Amino acid sequence: MPNIRFSLNGAETEIDADPDSSLLGLLRGPLGLTSPHFGCGSGECGACRVIVGDHAVTACDTPLWSVTGKEVITIEGLGSAEKPHPLQRAFIAEQAIQCGYCVSGILMSAAALLMQNPKPSGAEVRAALDRNLCRCGSQNRMVRAILRAADEVASQ
Ligand code: FES
Repeated sequence: MPNIRFSLNGAETEIDADPDSSLLGLLRGPLGLTSPHFGCGSGECGACRVIVGDHAVTACDTPLWSVTGKEVITIEGLGSAEKPHPLQRAFIAEQAIQCGYCVSGILMSAAALLMQNPKPSGAEVRAALDRNLCRCGSQNRMVRAILRAADEVASQ
């Protein structure tokens, strides 16, 4: 099998894998990163979202060949317990997490939004989360948290 090379959370990564296999399978399997969750497996729920370049993509239907030479970021690369990303701090402050299954995908959609648009409106946040499903009903708190994180970043 060919080598697939890409940057993963800032580290150059090279792995022998089927180029048509999914990015999610590689991340959760051989690479051991469990933050992108498997939900629908068909690009509909957003639980598996990661950032490729500066866009949030559904890793379950992203083939490995398409990330060759690109920067991939998962929540493990967003922040840490010691140094959380402003989005992570804001989600805690706004108590925006219920069961938590969808949250890593939502955080990656939000992080991609702030990369492209550091000062989004509420409507723009809602549009960015349109492809992320949350069955716990925390969406309003999530929107508040994302706007709070944007304000924090803007004031630094
Ligand atoms: Fe990828 Fe649902 S598991 S979008």
